[in-house]
Amino acid sequence: MKTLVVYASKGGYSRECAQKIAASLTGGADVVDVKKHAHKTDVASYDTVILGGGILAGRLPGALRRFCLRNATALERKRVGLFICGTDPENHEKVFAANYPAGLLDCAVVKTWLGGRILFADQKGIMRFVLKKMLKGENDVHAEQPEALKAFVTAIETI
Ligand SMILES: Cc1cc2nc3c(=O)[nH]c(=O)nc-3n(C[C@H](O)[C@H](O)[C@H](O)COP(=O)(O)O)c2cc1C
Repeated sequence: MKTLVVYASKGGYSRECAQKIAASLTGGADVVDVKKHAHKTDVASYDTVILGGGILAGRLPGALRRFCLRNATALERKRVGLFICGTDPENHEKVFAANYPAGLLDCAVVKTWLGGRILFADQKGIMRFVLKKMLKGENDVHAEQPEALKAFVTAIETI
């Protein structure tokens, strides 16, 4: 069974999740950064496709949303797993619904929030300023969910 993991990440957390998922799957997986290789990526040769990325202001990166839309018909014929990364522990259903096409949400065998993190050292300029105001300080936010990642991998292998 061939598996592809397609991710979009600004801060690196979703990339790490994609790599950990691929490394944990018994048969391994190809991992693709959709921002760099969207046009070279053909889902046709895979049995299972996992898609996921980091939420910024309620949205997945545009490159991943466009990839899902462009490949919707082909993806709906695959075993699909979807994940989102974010530091907000609530509203995941809404975030999935706002970011993935309805057909993909319907056919996905697993949809999981894998947590997220904000590292202030990675933030610059106006973004750092805005985050400092929003979070009332410059403390890193750690909301990683390693157990959710393990459960995601188990679901992909068993469902
Ligand atoms: C500017 C900004 C906006 C964010 N907005 C949200 C949000 O709306 N919901 C959420 O759950 N997390 C939000 N986060 C947290 C990110 O989703 C978290 O940092 C995640 O790990 C990002 O994934 P990435 O590192 O792969 O880019 C935000 C982070 C930043 C820096």
